[in-house]
Amino acid sequence: MQNNTQDKIEVLIPEEDIIKRVQEIGEQITKDYAGKKIKLICVLRGGTIFFAELAKRIDLPIEFDFISVSSYGDGTESSGNIKVKTDLSDSVEGWDVVVVEDIVDSGNTVNKLLALLKERGASSVALASLLDKPSRRKVNVPIDYIGFEVPDVFIVGYGLDYAQKYRNLPFVGKVLL
Ligand code: IMP
Ligand code: MG
Repeated sequence: MQNNTQDKIEVLIPEEDIIKRVQEIGEQITKDYAGKKIKLICVLRGGTIFFAELAKRIDLPIEFDFISVSSYGDGTESSGNIKVKTDLSDSVEGWDVVVVEDIVDSGNTVNKLLALLKERGASSVALASLLDKPSRRKVNVPIDYIGFEVPDVFIVGYGLDYAQKYRNLPFVGKVLL
């Protein structure tokens, strides 16, 4: 695929495989929360494409909300702390919440985010992550819905960026750094 830069990107997971898996996760969430309404929380910006594809495949009453937390800058290492950069629009109190993330790497980001949502009174907090990179885990976070496990390589596409580029690639790829 043309990307107008020098970076070489190799396809790891093609779009059709992602869509198939997202369909399965949507069906699973639909079953798990039968009879309930849920709040689907997109973790900006990486979670956006997975969030949109997943939301379409959940057959339940849903509300959307969005949060932006800082972790990486433009580099590839996670800082131990997260900061809420753009907060949710509404309260999560009393809601069954499903957080939608792009990837769980060290686990720092989601670990703190899930704790924050519980602290704010969500009835339940589950995590759906398109990708899981377990080899880099520093904090043990249970992931309720995982799309794919990936090796310890730098991933781009399908929402994930490298210095803010490549989020729009329609596949999960690996940057040859
Ligand atoms: P954490 O290390 O689990 O806290 O990951 C924090 C965030 O870093 C993730 O939500 C992603 O947005 C980003 N991230 C982690 N690994 C990658 C990667 O391989 N490519 C692009 N972004 C990543
Ligand atoms: Mg993220």
